[in-house]
Amino acid sequence: MSVPVSEPAMRQGAPRWPGVIEAYRSHLPVSAQTPVVTLLEGNTPLIPAPALSRKVHPRARVFLKYEGMNPTGSFKDRGMTLAISKAAEAKSVAVLCASTGNTSASASAYAARAGMRCIVLIPSGNIALGKLSQALIHQAAVVPVNGNFDECLNLVKEIAQKFPITVVNSINPYRIEGQKTCAFEICDVLGDAPDLHVTPVGNAGNITAQWKGYREYQAAKRVSRVPVMLGFQAKGAAPIVLGKIVAKPKTIATAIRIGNPASWKGALAAVKESDGAISAVTDKEILQAYMLLAKEEGVFVEPASAASVAGLLKLSAERYFDRQPWKSRDAITIVCILTGHGLKDPERALASVRVPKPVAPTMPALIKRLKLC
Ligand code: F0G
Repeated sequence: MSVPVSEPAMRQGAPRWPGVIEAYRSHLPVSAQTPVVTLLEGNTPLIPAPALSRKVHPRARVFLKYEGMNPTGSFKDRGMTLAISKAAEAKSVAVLCASTGNTSASASAYAARAGMRCIVLIPSGNIALGKLSQALIHQAAVVPVNGNFDECLNLVKEIAQKFPITVVNSINPYRIEGQKTCAFEICDVLGDAPDLHVTPVGNAGNITAQWKGYREYQAAKRVSRVPVMLGFQAKGAAPIVLGKIVAKPKTIATAIRIGNPASWKGALAAVKESDGAISAVTDKEILQAYMLLAKEEGVFVEPASAASVAGLLKLSAERYFDRQPWKSRDAITIVCILTGHGLKDPERALASVRVPKPVAPTMPALIKRLKLC
């Protein structure tokens, strides 16, 4: 006999987060006909970062938007709920993406939920273990390509022209629409837009989406201002900073190992309109920020995510906050986007620490190891 599945009893009045489409329906291109495919993404924590704030500036109030707390462990879920819901509305049976890992993890999970086929092209050997296992466990057709992300994306665009498959990379406008909800949430929690919004940049869809979110909230009079947008690329994969395509991008932050970003123009518009900038940080700076977040803030991120914090620390070392307009502010509210969870890349974590050898199962051995006397 089967037992009917029902909603768990909710405590009276306990708020229930409905996922980003329902939470921000009036700001999104959905209708009553759109089947909502959701894993209840969004509503990620905006964590105060006291240790980082002290390092940055005496008047800085730094918050970490921990996007690794989304259902598949990255910000991609915000865009994917919308992209897959709209693909379902259009009766699409298959979706396709190129990915450095997180897009494929998210696409494969949402496609599984929607009962769609999912195809992912990944740069062989350059995707973190956690992300690869996600795409595989959700039964996506994973194709490792002997090439980089940019080559994978070119192939995806070509396949989509020849076959009736929906592309769910951020060239799909619904991805950008969904990802703008990150800015909405930040404003809803802070009560207004922050002074500075700092984010890693790879294919540049996220910074484009976040800026769109702030602008729309300003137009809807939900906030009184918009932030200065600061984006950070990895030094060996910094086409926007250099102003030219990087044919062979290199960085340990594999998520942002991209030489020809699809939303290049969107990123430039965001920083131009907000008086911000796109700059580069070295792998060394990224890893230092990665360790600092883990050791001093208790927040575990993947290396690419630490690019935002690395960039912020770099600006502070360059005395950015002693200049106008920050010089005359009593407090400077800064939000760093932490795009993906540290568990995505366990190999990098283990390579960054000393892995302890086992001890004998005895008290003397344990006491000696822990230097307890
Ligand atoms: N951080 C992480 C953890 C990412 O996975 C990505 C992009 C970014 C930052 C950069 O965001 O591309 O919107 O500028 N990952 C893509 C992927 C490319 O395939 O998962 P972006």
